[in-house]
Amino acid sequence: MSNNLTKKKLQGKVAIVTGGASGLGETTARALADHGARAVVIADIQPEKGLAVAESIGLERCSYVQCDVTDEEQVEAMIGWTATTYGGLDVMFSNAGTATRLPQTILDLDMTEYDRVMRVNARSMAVCVKHAARKMVELRTRGAIVCMGSLAAVMAMVNSTDYMMSKCPTLGLMECASLQLGKHGIRVNSVSPGLVYTPLAEEKGYALEDMEKFIGPYKSLKGATLTAEHVADAVAFLASDEAALVTGVNLVVDDNAPGIVVLQEWWGVDFEVKNHAQKISQLGSGYKALIPEGKVGLEVAEAQHLMEGLDWPCAVKDIEGENYVTGKDLEEKLKASGVPHEVYFYPGIGHAFMNCSPEGAQRRKKMGMDDEDAAAVEQAWSRFDSWMGRFLSN
Ligand SMILES: NC(=O)c1ccc[n+]([C@@H]2O[C@H](COP(=O)([O-])OP(=O)(O)OC[C@H]3O[C@@H](n4cnc5c(N)ncnc54)[C@H](O)[C@@H]3O)[C@@H](O)[C@H]2O)c1
Repeated sequence: MSNNLTKKKLQGKVAIVTGGASGLGETTARALADHGARAVVIADIQPEKGLAVAESIGLERCSYVQCDVTDEEQVEAMIGWTATTYGGLDVMFSNAGTATRLPQTILDLDMTEYDRVMRVNARSMAVCVKHAARKMVELRTRGAIVCMGSLAAVMAMVNSTDYMMSKCPTLGLMECASLQLGKHGIRVNSVSPGLVYTPLAEEKGYALEDMEKFIGPYKSLKGATLTAEHVADAVAFLASDEAALVTGVNLVVDDNAPGIVVLQEWWGVDFEVKNHAQKISQLGSGYKALIPEGKVGLEVAEAQHLMEGLDWPCAVKDIEGENYVTGKDLEEKLKASGVPHEVYFYPGIGHAFMNCSPEGAQRRKKMGMDDEDAAAVEQAWSRFDSWMGRFLSN
């Protein structure tokens, strides 16, 4: 049972949980009932298990409906049945999913397995969201749709390529649907858990005793273990009026909080810093960029003014005096110190080499500098990404 039962946040709601016969869906179905839902419909293809879950929640407010989410007609019928039987539809948790049964690296991608995984995880998600939304619009219900994503949607995997590919569309679907359904008052969000030990995790080949060994080094929140209850709590929140103004959000639930890169520049926060932060958060590896507030060196406007008005060729000449430290000097110092390090040189790109923003390009032009070498800039970013990955997994 979910620990967070301070308030019945789903009092009187009618909810559907696809894939509710097992794992995260089962735990969430129980949590939604604990939070006061007046009806929970479990839509799955495992009748024995699904019925047992429904019975244990109580058949007066929980039903099992046989529904293969890959079949659009079955999904539409199941949603229609729910609305007619219980007089409405407030919450759709589109959770049913499958794991890939093969290693599925890009070099060995089995396309039959790929089609199966994509059909269950990606196509069915669209079908479920489509018909739940249609029913809510028809009934004029300001409902909540929660899609099951995965940390795999935002973080590359060494295998399971098709699984990752099948989870990325959930985020695109969720964002489009949230934008399009906002005028009907319907909220659409997703929840993206890290690895939780369920039958699906077992299917992926993870043994319970290996979980800590396998995931431990990647965890940021030490001493915490992600459970199905944590995921259920997140779904209950997104489904409830507590999240009345939350839509278009992918809520990552994991004990592996993403790495945080702190950005500081001596002159404060200007477009260079902001563009770097944006780029870091778009790398797709789950990193967040943090820009500390407040004055670091000069006031931002003051520094910006100085930078714009600077006589650059003269400044460079000044700097190249006695105290001038080249990259090569720095490399020598690092070598001598014995500190683990990597130094790369990128000929043809300048000081703010990782910044190809239009503002940066304009400033360089004004300074009489050449355009940056785009391929070298990309290489620098990709090295940064892989270095961060290695660093964070230690
Ligand atoms: N377990 C994890 O570590 C983890 C992490 C992130 C995301 N997820 C996602 O959570 C969801 C639930 O996974 P789980 O770990 O609870 O797995 P699970 O295998 O315990 O549960 C999946 C449920 O979906 C049902 N299902 C599968 N295909 C279906 C279909 N065609 N029609 C209807 N129901 C179908 C299954 O019968 C099962 O009851 C999946 O979408 C999965 O990708 C799981």
